[in-house]
Amino acid sequence: MTGNTSTFEKIGPLPVRKPDFGFKKKNTRPISENDAFLDSLLSALSVFLPAGERFFINAVKRTKDQFEDPTIQEEIQYFINQEAQHSKQHLAFNRYLEACGFPALESEAQIDRILERVAKMFPSREDQLIITVAIEHCTAVLSNMYLQDTDLQKALDPDVRDLYLWHSQEEIEHKAVAYDIYKALGENYFKRIAFMSATLLSFAALLIQFQNRFYNAKPTQSRLKRWQQTAKFCLHPRMLLMARGFANFYSPSFHPWQEDDLHLIPKATVRA
Ligand SMILES: [Fe+2]
Ligand SMILES: [Fe+2]
Repeated sequence: MTGNTSTFEKIGPLPVRKPDFGFKKKNTRPISENDAFLDSLLSALSVFLPAGERFFINAVKRTKDQFEDPTIQEEIQYFINQEAQHSKQHLAFNRYLEACGFPALESEAQIDRILERVAKMFPSREDQLIITVAIEHCTAVLSNMYLQDTDLQKALDPDVRDLYLWHSQEEIEHKAVAYDIYKALGENYFKRIAFMSATLLSFAALLIQFQNRFYNAKPTQSRLKRWQQTAKFCLHPRMLLMARGFANFYSPSFHPWQEDDLHLIPKATVRA
C-alpha cells in the first residue's frame, strides 16, 4: 500500500510520449464494431477533453510559484506536458469524429463555453485547483476501468483503442500530482466533496446529452438495439468498480495512490 506517496517517489520523472494515431489522415472508420452505444460513449467522452485539459493545466500552472522544491516544480511540469499532449491528440480525434458525421466540434465548443463560465464563477486559484483534483480523480477511475476492461478494448477500432489506452496510462501515472499540490497548499474537505458531487452530476448530465446528440446525428442501429447495448454496458461488473472508485474520494483520508493501479500499465500495449 502506497497511499500518500508522491509521484516522483513512486514513478520518477513521468514519460511524455508523443504518439500519432493517424486521425489526421485516415479515412473514416467505425469507432466500434457494431455498437452504437460505444460509438457515442467514446466519441462523447473525447469532446470534454481539449478544454478540460487546458483548464487543468492552467489551474496547476497557477500554483507553480508557491513551491521552491525542484521536485514539485518538475512534477508540475511533467503533468502539464502530459496533459498538453492529451489535448492535442483529442483535438485531432474530435476532428476525425466530425468527419465521421458526429457533431464533435459543436459539442467541444459547448464544453469550452461551460469551462469559461466555471472559471469566471470560481476565479480563485484554490477553487480551480480543487475542481481539477475532482476531475483528475474521475479520469483516474475511468482509466483504471478501461485498462482492466479487455472486452471493451477489443470492441474498438485499434486507433481509438490505443488513443484511450495511452491516455488512461498517463492519467494513472500523474493522478496524484494535482492532489499533492492541493494537500501541500492546505486542504478543504468540504469544498473537495462539494466540487466532486457537482462535477459528477454535471458530467453525467452532459455525457448523456452528448451521447444522444451523437446517436441522433448518426443512428447506425435501431433505438431498441441501442437500449440493449446501453443495458449490457451498464449492468456489467465494471460499473461497481467505477462506483467504488468514485466513493473512495469521499473518505477524509483519501489519497490517489491508496488505489495502487500502476500494475495495470504494463498490460496495456501503448504506442510510445
Ligand atoms: Fe489527460
Ligand atoms: Fe490528467
